[in-house]
Amino acid sequence: MVDPVLELKGISKKLKGREILKNINLTINPSEIFGFLGPNGAGKTTTIRIIAGLVKPTTGSVTICGYSLEKEFSKALSRVGCIIEGPDMYKYFTGMENLEQFAAMKNVERKRIYEVLELVGLQHRINDKVGTYSLGMRQRMGIAQALLSRPKLLILDEPTNGLDPAGIAEFRQLMRKLAYEEGMSVFVSSHILTELQLMCDTVSIVKQGEVIKTAKVEEIQSDNVVEWQFEDVGKAKEILKSKLGLNVTQTKKNIIRAPIGKLTIEEINRTFMNEGLVISYCTAVGSSLEDLFLDLTEGDKIV
Ligand SMILES: Nc1ncnc2c1ncn2[C@@H]1O[C@H](COP(=O)(O)OP(=O)(O)OP(=O)(O)O)[C@@H](O)[C@H]1O
Ligand SMILES: [Mg+2]
Repeated sequence: MVDPVLELKGISKKLKGREILKNINLTINPSEIFGFLGPNGAGKTTTIRIIAGLVKPTTGSVTICGYSLEKEFSKALSRVGCIIEGPDMYKYFTGMENLEQFAAMKNVERKRIYEVLELVGLQHRINDKVGTYSLGMRQRMGIAQALLSRPKLLILDEPTNGLDPAGIAEFRQLMRKLAYEEGMSVFVSSHILTELQLMCDTVSIVKQGEVIKTAKVEEIQSDNVVEWQFEDVGKAKEILKSKLGLNVTQTKKNIIRAPIGKLTIEEINRTFMNEGLVISYCTAVGSSLEDLFLDLTEGDKIV
């Protein structure tokens, strides 16, 4: 077992007599992209504030890279880069001037500025004023700033808010690069499930201050069940069973379903077509993260 980068044990928070967080337990491993999914008011930002040392929990412990946040505050936080509710920057300064300012504050050598710029891909606009940047660029500037001190854990609170689909896709790629090439762990909160599903290795669903489910996204997706309708299901059943090794159930005269494991619907349908079968319809019916989320929150609207 590897040592976790972040561990929350029994975290609760009471504010003005209200229990905002209830017994939160989380573990994030090295190089893992972790998603914290929950509707407005679920307690995402409060949890992040606690991890960032801005708010004290009422009970429980936070450990970052083996350091107790309570007992070794600065050592624990020296491993964390954090952006809460949007990055803070001087918009009349250029990107470079902003980074230089932070680098000086944090005692970071100049070489690191160029490294982080390369990582986030902002070299070409770095001498323009931050005020002229698009939201996506400001987001990347914020990340560059958070990366200056070489954190092991990057924490981003609703980082994709306001980004367009292209911006979100770029952001996703950047997170993957940081986690899988640079070995960082990423904690990202969101109320948008599809985003986290695409980006994260693990997702915890939080509702009214409680983590109600933690799951590996891959496992949930590999549980996906797909349903097909055919004129004659006989041959299709045979293909799914013998050719693709799937577990098939016939649910109606013309309908079969199977958990598709690591295969994609496209791959399976191509196989059917190559065998000359005509698919009347095909749909995912199984426990995607969305179904799971809706089940767990009893239909609370999330997107
Ligand atoms: N300083 C405070 N005093 C009282 N209540 C607070 C305080 N900060 C947060 N809360 C309450 O705690 C709950 C959780 O808030 P939090 O901001 O952590 O949720 P969130 O999941 O980040 O929501 P959002 O998606 O809207 O950002 C909310 O009900 C909020 O009103
Ligand atoms: Mg919030």
